[in-house]
Amino acid sequence: MDEPPLSEQPTAPYLEAIVAYGFRGPGRFHVPGHKGGAGADPGVVHALGEDALALDIPQDIRGIDVGPSPTPFERAETLAARAYGARRSWFLTNGATQGNHALCLALAPLGAPVVIQRNSHASVVDGLVLSGGAPTFVAPEYDAGLGMAHGVTPDSLTAALERTPGARAAFIVSPTYYGMAADVRGCARVAHAAGVPLVVDQSWGAHFGFHPALPEAALAQGADAMLTSTHKLAGSLTQSAMLHLGAGDLIDEQALVRAVRIVRSTSPSSLLMASLDGARRQLAVHGEQLLHETLAAIAAARAKLRTIDGVELVDDALVGAPGVAAYDPLRIVLDVRDVGCTGMELADALRRSYDVHVELATQATVVLVVGLRESEAALLRVAGDIDELVARLRRPGRSTPPIRQPEAPPELAVTPREAFLGEAVRVPVEDAIGRVSCESIAGYPPGIPAILPGERLTGELLGYLREIVAVGSRLHGASDPSFATIHVLREG
Ligand SMILES: Cc1ncc(COP(=O)(O)O)c(C=O)c1O
Repeated sequence: MDEPPLSEQPTAPYLEAIVAYGFRGPGRFHVPGHKGGAGADPGVVHALGEDALALDIPQDIRGIDVGPSPTPFERAETLAARAYGARRSWFLTNGATQGNHALCLALAPLGAPVVIQRNSHASVVDGLVLSGGAPTFVAPEYDAGLGMAHGVTPDSLTAALERTPGARAAFIVSPTYYGMAADVRGCARVAHAAGVPLVVDQSWGAHFGFHPALPEAALAQGADAMLTSTHKLAGSLTQSAMLHLGAGDLIDEQALVRAVRIVRSTSPSSLLMASLDGARRQLAVHGEQLLHETLAAIAAARAKLRTIDGVELVDDALVGAPGVAAYDPLRIVLDVRDVGCTGMELADALRRSYDVHVELATQATVVLVVGLRESEAALLRVAGDIDELVARLRRPGRSTPPIRQPEAPPELAVTPREAFLGEAVRVPVEDAIGRVSCESIAGYPPGIPAILPGERLTGELLGYLREIVAVGSRLHGASDPSFATIHVLREG
């Protein structure tokens, strides 16, 4: 298929094709059964609007995704690839989660060794459960005071690759939940020196590369594949995302085609895909200006937040620290330790007093996610809310630092797939020492899994997890939230 010229970025071929079909009144003798809205529950029609229902169109409609190539759908994916500097891009309707599953199926098949950032999103380990790959983990850099994991460094990636003979791929995350971007260029260099493709989960950075003040996109830094969870910050509908394949030849495109197909519904939502097409157009055509305006609004809010006694901003001052090569200003990260309260307390007070809901709160921090076109007025208002609440919550002294997770990763006894699909038994936590975990559990902070399926539980690790529960922090993934019991692999 010929590539569309760059000047086609102002078009949104898939969005425009479904709009044309939706509103020209075709005989819709196909699914979905609501027939463009006529058969839908009136409450649903009211909530979603007639227009959205008219655009809910299945696959295989001539002139949309069937017919002479390139179809509008093919053109839309090609335009996305062009905008992101990719050899090929796929629209995903089950989030970046689907992309991680596909990447594991393509790059980490049964028994294949792969290097994985320890605090990758849960969907990577789930992807290994599907594919059967055997992970070696590489630890992210960690700021113990803030309880904040950063990126991996090229040096730790090198060491992990050396520990993993025959590694098929390296999977890292950049940026983090807190907006800290890794040295992707350096990581790509060491991965390529080992003959291994670098996959970057850039879920939190779909807008990277669209403004000079933002970090470069991973593909532009030499990554071989990149995921963007476009719905997170770049304006598409929740659950829509993209997978991008880089220019190199370390990843077999056909392997990815097969893998994407197997984790894709045969009825992907036209609304989600149209929103991706539109989000790409907006970013490619107006992204720089929109980001420029948003960054100005953020700067005003930051200036106000800086005046609040006890609140520190975690921002580009961290750039240069291990695991932090760049920073995304669309995250406003507050360090509240000197207020004497926890981030969870401040987040709770924001919700109760002002109906303000934040993205993440930890012991030391509160994270606000800012989207495109966020108004200065909204940002100044939340800064004012925080100012008022900090005055109310202030207590003398610093809040206690997060509990320290054991540093050495547990021994991998069997692959995540064997542990997940094997026979599990629930045992009291005190009887689980030396057993193989079937669960994935992480304390928050640090958000780095303490134990993953297939790893052997130790007394130290179980003690740490119990301590986390005892102080009221969250345990992600534990099947028993009170952590009295845990699923382990049946022995013998
Ligand atoms: C780093 C990372 N990767 C992947 C995902 C999954 O993205 P989605 O929710 O779009 O499936 C998330 C979700 O928070 C994430 O933080």
